[in-house]
Amino acid sequence: MSRRYVVQVGEEVLRKKCDVVKSFGGELDSLLNDMKETVRAESGAGLAAPQIGVGLRAVVIDVEEGYYELVNPVITAQKGEQRGAEGCLSVKGKQGTVRRPYKVKVEYQDRKGKKHKLTAEGFFARAVCHELDHLDGVLYIDKADEVYDLPPEGK
Ligand code: NI
Repeated sequence: MSRRYVVQVGEEVLRKKCDVVKSFGGELDSLLNDMKETVRAESGAGLAAPQIGVGLRAVVIDVEEGYYELVNPVITAQKGEQRGAEGCLSVKGKQGTVRRPYKVKVEYQDRKGKKHKLTAEGFFARAVCHELDHLDGVLYIDKADEVYDLPPEGK
């Protein structure tokens, strides 16, 4: 496993529609291992493959409910609305206020290709929606009501 450089806004890979993962094991394992190490090192709630320069439909989510690896994820249902603060490891030093569904249902595959379903709500749902947007080249700053600068780190 190794920690990877997180691509910053302005780089083209963040704006591309990612490809469906068709081959499981080997390279996908390495990718997901690196994503886990990177999201933990950066203290993020989630990370999408394009954020480390890989245009594949894979994200990791690291929230109170647990650590999830979602390959080829699709939102199949959504309910309600929440409005709250959001940041992104690819948009350093900023936060924005974004509207998201309160609850989402997702179908995805794990790193072995096995199919699963999950239901997420609250912050977990927000993290899922944010990371899935990355797979279609969408950043939260495209959707935010407002984007503002955070105080310098350590303050
Ligand atoms: Ni992000």
